[in-house]
Amino acid sequence: MDTKDYFRIRLSTIRPDEPSPFAIYILIDGKMITYLNEGDVLTPEKVQALHQKDSGESFFVLNERKAMYRQYIKDAMNSNLITNDNKAIILRESSIAILEDLFENPDVGIALEESKPIISDLLQFMDTAPGSIGNLISLSGHDFYTYNHSFDVSIYSLGLGQALGFDKAMLSELGTASLFHDIGKRNVSIDILCKRGPLDENEWIQMRMHPQFGLKILNEHPGLSDAVRAACYEHHESWSGGGYPQDISGQEIHPFARIVALTDTYDAMTTQRSYNIPMKPTEALNMMKVKLAAKFDPEMLKAMYSVLFKMEKKTG
Ligand SMILES: [Fe+2]
Ligand SMILES: [Fe+2]
Repeated sequence: MDTKDYFRIRLSTIRPDEPSPFAIYILIDGKMITYLNEGDVLTPEKVQALHQKDSGESFFVLNERKAMYRQYIKDAMNSNLITNDNKAIILRESSIAILEDLFENPDVGIALEESKPIISDLLQFMDTAPGSIGNLISLSGHDFYTYNHSFDVSIYSLGLGQALGFDKAMLSELGTASLFHDIGKRNVSIDILCKRGPLDENEWIQMRMHPQFGLKILNEHPGLSDAVRAACYEHHESWSGGGYPQDISGQEIHPFARIVALTDTYDAMTTQRSYNIPMKPTEALNMMKVKLAAKFDPEMLKAMYSVLFKMEKKTG
């Protein structure tokens, strides 16, 4: 059996002191090793021992147990014994692990399909526990590029969409649009994406290609709406002009792209990248209000304040 027979999970989604209904594996030196047998209990000592060894965060469950794992997460989300704040963490950690798998999957069609339950779970959580949405945002404050970023941008965008009065169907489309806004970064070299320090001119040219790359990838999937494509292609355009790749401005930019432009910038400023220190939420908001205001749709920028007020990032 090889790694494609497994899917990734985060250990923080496993309830301690309760027998696990499925076995959990860990990838060591390219080999899947059993970490917890089916029916065994994940004790705090076991988790602790692992942290001391610092063996990373990649745990796996057999694909044939996927439905069971999803039900296990659903049970947690419906449990009266788990607080909403902890539910937010479970939802976040289970979604991120799926995204991690999906973003590495060469088949974008599968990624688009399998991301749907993530978005509907998020929307449901926003309905049932609006006060805990802030806990969906990463606590770690690092890891700018990748799944965390896409996930956080989705949370902010859904919050903003809700504040702008979007209905369920539009929100769910906005969820997809935000999750995949940077999909074109698949085609940018990893050395550039993870470079410690500012990019040189050539590297910038490559980096700035990601909206085009993304559009090309999404165009291969005819089921997607123009809105999803626009969010990917136009999220680096600027309200006052001067953005890329088309240098369009104002209402010419699709509303979804205007939303992602805002939430993407905010997440970038408040998250630790390889070479900067993250800004505090209030600093970032101030910067957007004062120095960057012209870049964003003013109505949306205004709505963004109220959203952030509700879900203040926990790193602050
Ligand atoms: Fe981007
Ligand atoms: Fe982004």
